[in-house]
Amino acid sequence: MDKSAKDPEKIRSMFSTIAPRYDLLNRVLSLGIDRQWRKFAVSQLPSGEKSLFLDVATGTCDVALEIIRQHSAETRVVGVDFSEGMLKRGREKVREAELEKRIEVRFADVTALPFDDNRFDAAIIAFGIRNVQDFKKGIMEMGRVVRSGGNVVILEFTSIQNPFFKVPYRFYLTKVLPFIGEFISGKKGAYKYLPSSMLEFPGPEEFKKEMEQTGLIHVLYHRLSLGIAAVHIGTVP
Ligand SMILES: C[S@@+](CC[C@H](N)C(=O)[O-])C[C@H]1O[C@@H](n2cnc3c(N)ncnc32)[C@H](O)[C@@H]1O
Repeated sequence: MDKSAKDPEKIRSMFSTIAPRYDLLNRVLSLGIDRQWRKFAVSQLPSGEKSLFLDVATGTCDVALEIIRQHSAETRVVGVDFSEGMLKRGREKVREAELEKRIEVRFADVTALPFDDNRFDAAIIAFGIRNVQDFKKGIMEMGRVVRSGGNVVILEFTSIQNPFFKVPYRFYLTKVLPFIGEFISGKKGAYKYLPSSMLEFPGPEEFKKEMEQTGLIHVLYHRLSLGIAAVHIGTVP
């Protein structure tokens, strides 16, 4: 994929364009499995009575809302994203759930997080890091704002290893998914970027090494749903 496809301005405007239909498309294109993936990723966050978590690339706030579901009443979440369109939808969902006191939603770029060092107990990013041109910088920023001993959790699509599933999955990604995406979102081309960014993202072992190069330690990962997605977890030294 041409590097310019991940130009931050292009990514921002693409997500703002698809924001109104983003949740519906997630459910349809993943047959609803995306919810289980987020649940699993959130379950990897450390438990604690009064935790403060950062949800990076929060989008429409599904991860932030899931954190609140899984954690005690004293847990708070800050969700950040750089697409105003996605943030608008996210804020609406937080308001509808009456969770404004527990989830703060704000504008920020993952490569320049507006927070002091060691501020959070853990940071999580779901389906966001793949879109960041300088993704190592993003991971370093997440590590910087998390306290020592806290986690950085990354949920992302990854390359399929299973040889039998690989061919039909590739066909689904390149032929079926862009068609459904365009039909539901009404935006031509928006869902062409998704399969190409997924297919070229590093496999789980390679991505683990990239995370270690950012300074995180004890990095491990879990493959989900035949390896369509993976959750990587690193600890801040
Ligand atoms: C596929 S959506 C994922 C949203 C949400 N985390 C979820 O699980 O549904 C990717 C999000 O990453 C955001 N994003 C991409 N690059 C970013 C960056 N550099 N800084 C902040 N947000 C970014 C986009 O605006 C978009 O909302």
